[in-house]
Amino acid sequence: MGEWTKYYQAVGETPNQQVVRALQKYTGARRAALDLGAGNLRDAKFLLKSGFKSVTAVDKEPQLEQVPGVEFIQRPLENYMPMPNTFDVGISCNTLFFVPRDDTPKILTRSYNALTEGGIFICNLLGSEDSWLTRPEIGAVGYTEEEVRAMLANFSIEDLSYATGHRPTSAGKSAAWAMWRIIIRKE
Ligand SMILES: C[S@@+](CC[C@H](N)C(=O)[O-])C[C@H]1O[C@@H](n2cnc3c(N)ncnc32)[C@H](O)[C@@H]1O
Repeated sequence: MGEWTKYYQAVGETPNQQVVRALQKYTGARRAALDLGAGNLRDAKFLLKSGFKSVTAVDKEPQLEQVPGVEFIQRPLENYMPMPNTFDVGISCNTLFFVPRDDTPKILTRSYNALTEGGIFICNLLGSEDSWLTRPEIGAVGYTEEEVRAMLANFSIEDLSYATGHRPTSAGKSAAWAMWRIIIRKE
């Protein structure tokens, strides 16, 4: 489990709520799904429970669990080339802000191209006010609204929102978080 052990203990098997809400509205096909930065597979399992026949789960860390219906690919997202026109839904939760800034637009473009017509890609990015950005050891990347809109300029935006709040720190204090929630749709 390595560096994500505490994170997996915290999130457990509860799926990402942005994904849950998006799938409640999504009426398209539920054949293949893609999960980039799949972690402990909590969202991959949710996609299967939600009716998808197969999930391709990609992560740079080793697979933690074998799950029927999940094809796991251990690879950095920067080097992963999904097959075009293949996935009805793609997701990347709490991951793209660990990818080098220059690689994120490429990953978004590949993910968009990998969608089937009418398919959606659900992801999040850190906002530039997130307190993690003041801690270089975390290695997270944050984005202003201008930067996010520039990255999404070639896509049809289904949903784009910005949320802020406070998270408890291990020292018992509170730290600011800021998150872009993004859904793009392939027309
Ligand atoms: C915070 S966890 C999120 C896991 C899962 N998506 C979730 O929401 O529970 C971040 C995940 O991204 C993976 N990750 C980070 N950088 C990556 C990269 N460059 N390529 C592939 N996976 C990466 C980590 O190994 C980890 O599993």
